Amino acid sequence: MSDTAPLRETPDAADTAWTRKHLLGIADLSPSEIELILDTAESFREVGERPIKKVPTLRGKTVMNLFFEPSTRTRSSFELAEKRLSADSLNFSGSGSALSKGETLIDTARNLEAMAPDLVVIRHQHPGVPHLLAERIDAGIINAGDGAHEHPTQALLDAFTIRQHKGGLEGLEVAIVGDIEHSRVVRSNIHLLTKMGARVTVAGLRTMMPVEVEKMGVRAAYDLGEATRGADVVMMLRVQLERQAGGSLFPSVREYFRLFGLSPERLKRAKEDAIVMHPGPMNRGTEISSLVADGTRSVILEQVANGVAVRMAVLYLLMAARGAAV
Ligand code: CP
Repeated sequence: MSDTAPLRETPDAADTAWTRKHLLGIADLSPSEIELILDTAESFREVGERPIKKVPTLRGKTVMNLFFEPSTRTRSSFELAEKRLSADSLNFSGSGSALSKGETLIDTARNLEAMAPDLVVIRHQHPGVPHLLAERIDAGIINAGDGAHEHPTQALLDAFTIRQHKGGLEGLEVAIVGDIEHSRVVRSNIHLLTKMGARVTVAGLRTMMPVEVEKMGVRAAYDLGEATRGADVVMMLRVQLERQAGGSLFPSVREYFRLFGLSPERLKRAKEDAIVMHPGPMNRGTEISSLVADGTRSVILEQVANGVAVRMAVLYLLMAARGAAV
């Protein structure tokens, strides 16, 4: 933006074609809705580059952040996005709440709703909890990750980061490697990337691959080299030991890295200008080497930075659909 260009505080709500009350998953969204979120995030990215990183868009509005599972990136970037939009935030975590005294989730949600939040951001270990809340309470609901089901804002920030580097998503070859079975990030990314015309290959151990994953419109590979050959984007995923109820599904960390760990040597199979992504948290030496994670092709910290602008866009659009953004 030039020095003389007018500062646009926020996108114009009248320009938006967003009508949804909730963001529960990418599966529900159309390509034009995805584009709208990404374009809106582009407008908000500039706010983070100003000396005073704040706009009055959600002044007087209340957003509750309910996190029933640990989070570093999602929770802090939602909080920062809310502060940058001048919303009032309330942070609630499952541990230390009355849930431990036997209160049900729905009763907890109804009690929190009595304080009249406009939006509720929720992360929960069980799939479908955001959908349940959306049916039971009046506030707009944003899914910040529900079990192994969806993590829509992660896929949106991933798409935003890919667009920055590749100019678009259509026709790109994207390899997603790791614990496909237990990953909500991969589900949201598959929905988003295939809707936007990218070709997706998922790769991992057979024990961590969903049955008939190809029905989601992707290619399955059981070899890292095969998955990454000619890729524009290589997205590495963590092995989610906490979701492997029946015990570990891989032999050892050393063996896993030998088979599916991304090293500089193995990255050579991807295109010369391929980017490396990871939603975090990373397990260095398990799915990715430090040389790759900290290397020139890595955009992992850019993903984190972009999360704030993307979450500002989601908060803004949902609030605008409620007729509540200024
Ligand atoms: N990517 C992601 O969801 O990270 P957190 O668990 O730290 O929020």
